[in-house]
Amino acid sequence: MKKKLFSGIQPSGEVHIGNYLGAIRNWVKMMDQYDCIYCIVDYHAITTKYDISQMQTRILNAAADLLACGIDPEKCTLFVQSKVSEHTELAWVLSSVTPMGDLERMTQFKEKSKQNQKNINAGLFTYPVLQAADILLYKAEVVPVGEDQIQHIELSREIARKFNNAYGRTFPEPAHIVPNVGRILGLDGNAKMSKSLNNYIGLAEDDQTISKKLMPAKTDPARLRRSDPGTPEKCNIYSLHQLLSSEEEVKQVAQGCRSAEIGCVDCKKILLKNMLATIGPIREKIFELRSRPDYLKQLLDRGAEKCRETAQATMEEVKTRMGLG
Ligand code: AMP
Ligand code: TRP
Repeated sequence: MKKKLFSGIQPSGEVHIGNYLGAIRNWVKMMDQYDCIYCIVDYHAITTKYDISQMQTRILNAAADLLACGIDPEKCTLFVQSKVSEHTELAWVLSSVTPMGDLERMTQFKEKSKQNQKNINAGLFTYPVLQAADILLYKAEVVPVGEDQIQHIELSREIARKFNNAYGRTFPEPAHIVPNVGRILGLDGNAKMSKSLNNYIGLAEDDQTISKKLMPAKTDPARLRRSDPGTPEKCNIYSLHQLLSSEEEVKQVAQGCRSAEIGCVDCKKILLKNMLATIGPIREKIFELRSRPDYLKQLLDRGAEKCRETAQATMEEVKTRMGLG
């Protein structure tokens, strides 16, 4: 039997190249090795302000984007979180074994509280509990995520352990798998690439928009003039080269940067060419799929149907162990 794998992505409107390189590319690779469940986590997305009229589109776009990146609905289960109500039910149960202090330590909570000072709601705070519920509901053992989510998976393990200790062994402790690409920084070169910081390159953006965003992106701050030698390791553009360019080109730009033979503009042009070559075919599929909302809805409904059976069985087991129901 293949091990169960679970991961989720927020329907934030547009999948960006940070999601793709930091997570989704890995999700695609895992489909043969694991029994994979991929979830569009709309209940997580309501913890920050959003446009109600856009939510359905965002959900369907997320599905289209995932499929375009190579997620194959025949090889895995893809569904929308709010369609399986046991996610929130289990989250409530798990919140009673989650220490407040652990939630207070969460980096994402601290960052999002800073970004949304007028809307620091309890959902933002208990967000990782719902995430733990997502994973534990299916007794998933493996969770592929980007580096920014490691802390949440560590907490999921802690929550599983606490529940098992209190009520008897029910959940395996899930392990995270992180691609060795680290945190993909945004075009500002400071913060992680994310939709909410508007420092991203979207998979559905056209060539011109991508070029306009990439060309002024931050580089090695020590390289003020064209003639200044740079340090590739300190440059965000170089780290993107490592993920998108050929070995030969990576060597070339590293050497050229150190010796100041290649300027930042030319270095970015090479990256742009390779980025467009990666994004181009994905974008084409995205638009093809986005024009078929009925197909996407059917596929997501089928996914939710498949999940419900396991989700209900887990909730029954949980309630029995806790003397409830
Ligand atoms: P989100 O869009 O925040 O729901 O993230 C979906 C997946 O992409 C998660 O596994 C994240 O860890 C990953 N991810 C998001 N932003 C980045 C980033 N800047 N670098 C690496 N991985 C990321
Ligand atoms: N919190 C994750 C993110 O922002 C998304 C997510 C929700 C998730 N539930 C999950 C990831 C369960 C892995 C497993 O990226």
